[in-house]
Amino acid sequence: MTVTVTIQNTNWETIWSFNADYNKSLSQMAQDHNINIPISCRMGACYVCACQIKKGAEHVQIDKLMPPAILPAQDENKNFKEIFTCVWGIQTEKIKSNENFEVILQKNI
Ligand code: FES
Repeated sequence: MTVTVTIQNTNWETIWSFNADYNKSLSQMAQDHNINIPISCRMGACYVCACQIKKGAEHVQIDKLMPPAILPAQDENKNFKEIFTCVWGIQTEKIKSNENFEVILQKNI
């Protein structure tokens, strides 16, 4: 299984794509590839690290590093519109080993 994470800027332009590290938060993965996602509280409370999720919401795990202090807004289908990249990561439990997926995030800043 491979999950590709794509980070876009506020103009919908792709900044970088990389294979996910399943043991890290999304902001840690981005930092490993020199993509700056601002971080402050590191506990899912302040929205500084929040990114819009454009694709692959079903593959993210909201408590990869720790349960977030608050939950961001959800749409009418209970999908999160934003994620806290400081604590959210890629969930692996439901993904079959021979499938590949993509998660697309858009930076808010
Ligand atoms: S750094 Fe505060 S919510 Fe992620």
